[in-house]
Amino acid sequence: MIIGVPKEIKNNENRVAVTPSGVVEFTKRGHEVYIQTTAGDGSGFTDDQYTEAGAKILPTIAEVYDIAEMIIKVKEPIEPEYKLCKKDQLIFTYFHFASHEPLTKAMIDSGAVCLAYETVESSDRSLPLLIPMSEVAGRMSVQEGAKYLEKPLKGRGILLGGVPGVRPAKVMILGGGVVGTNAAKMAAGMGADVTILDLNLQRLRYLDDVMPANVNTFMSSEYNIRELIATHDLIIGAVLIPGAKAPNLITKDMLKDMQPGTVLVDVAVDQGGCIETCKPTTHQDPTYIIEDVVHYCVANMPGAVPYTSTLALTNATLPYALQLANKGWKQACNDSNELKLGLNVISGEIVYKGVSEAFDMPYTPVEKFL
Ligand SMILES: NC(=O)c1ccc[n+]([C@@H]2O[C@H](COP(=O)([O-])OP(=O)(O)OC[C@H]3O[C@@H](n4cnc5c(N)ncnc54)[C@H](O)[C@@H]3O)[C@@H](O)[C@H]2O)c1
Repeated sequence: MIIGVPKEIKNNENRVAVTPSGVVEFTKRGHEVYIQTTAGDGSGFTDDQYTEAGAKILPTIAEVYDIAEMIIKVKEPIEPEYKLCKKDQLIFTYFHFASHEPLTKAMIDSGAVCLAYETVESSDRSLPLLIPMSEVAGRMSVQEGAKYLEKPLKGRGILLGGVPGVRPAKVMILGGGVVGTNAAKMAAGMGADVTILDLNLQRLRYLDDVMPANVNTFMSSEYNIRELIATHDLIIGAVLIPGAKAPNLITKDMLKDMQPGTVLVDVAVDQGGCIETCKPTTHQDPTYIIEDVVHYCVANMPGAVPYTSTLALTNATLPYALQLANKGWKQACNDSNELKLGLNVISGEIVYKGVSEAFDMPYTPVEKFL
C-alpha cells in the first residue's frame, strides 16, 4: 500500500504520525511510505532519518495527499486539507467528529474512508489509542502542578516532596482512571502526600493494592471533596464520564475554602472540565488566577512534549496501521472488531451512531460496506 504522512498544520502541533522506526516496519512488508519534508522536525526526527529508514520525502502536503492510498496523521484534517482528501482514500487519525460539524460535512463530501483513533475500542471497552495521551497528560499534570506551586509562579511556595523535617505537599486527584493513576505514581514518587478520589469502589480497591504507602484512596462525594480541598496544595482533575461533559466536582464557591496559592490542574478540560471555574488555556498562556487559586487548564497537554507523545502515540497506532496496510481496510475491519469500531465515515455516509446523533444526520450501518 502507498502510505502518506503529512506534516501537521494545526497550531502548535509538533507530533508526527509515523517515526523512522515505523517506516522500517512498513517498508519491510512491501509498503511505500511518503513523508512530507520536515514532518518529523518537531518530534526530533530529520528527513535524513526517514530516508535512511526507507521513506521518500515529498516537498508539499498536496503531493502527499495526492499519492497516498492511506493517510496517517495525528490531528483531524483542518480546513486547508479538506479539499486534499480524496474519494476512497483511507484516513487514519484523531477526528473527534461529534464536536466538529464542518469537519464531518467536509469528510462526507470528500468520499474518503475515515477511521478515527478515538473510537477504536477493545473488547474490555478500553480505548487503546486514547490511553497513551492520558498517560502523558497524567504524568505531566504533576510536573506542571509542581512548577506552578512555586512562589514566583503565584503558587503556595511549597516543594512537592518536602525535605527532612518539613512536610511534603498534599496532592488530591479527582478520578483514578488512566490520567489519575499516572498522576498519582508521579506525585507519590516525588514524595508528596497523595489522595485519590473515585466513585468506583473496585477501582479504589485496585489502587489501594498497587499504590505505595503515601497514596490514600477516598470515595468521591461532595462532602469528602469539601473537607479535603482546604488542606491540599495541588488538586488534579482527572474524571471522565464517557460521552458526557465532566461533572463540576469543584464549584466556584469552594475556591474561598482553599489556601491562597493552591494550584488546580484540570486535565479534564477537554470534556468541559471538572472544576466549575475551568476554561481552556494554551501552552503560551497556561494559567490564570481566581480568588488567589492558580488554574492550569491546557487542553492539549501532550503537545508540549512532542518527542514523548509521538513515541507513545505511534507505539499504540503502528500495530493497527500495519493491519490496515497489510490487509486493506475492509479485510482488516472484518478481521478486527477493534478497528471496525474506528470507522466513522465511509464514502459519504456516517457509519458511527454517536456522530450521526450529534448532528441529526442519517446513519448507515457499517456492515453495508464490509
Ligand atoms: N488536557 C489534556 O491534554 C488531556 C489529555 C488526555 C486526556 N485528557 C482527559 O482527561 C480525562 C480523564 O481521562 P482518563 O483517560 O483518565 O479517563 P478514565 O476513564 O481512564 O478515568 C476516569 C475516571 O474518572 C472516574 N470518575 C467518574 N466520575 C467521577 C466522580 N464524580 N468523582 C471521581 N471520579 C469519577 C471514573 O470512575 C474513572 O475511574 C478525560 O476527560 C480525558 O479526555 C485530557
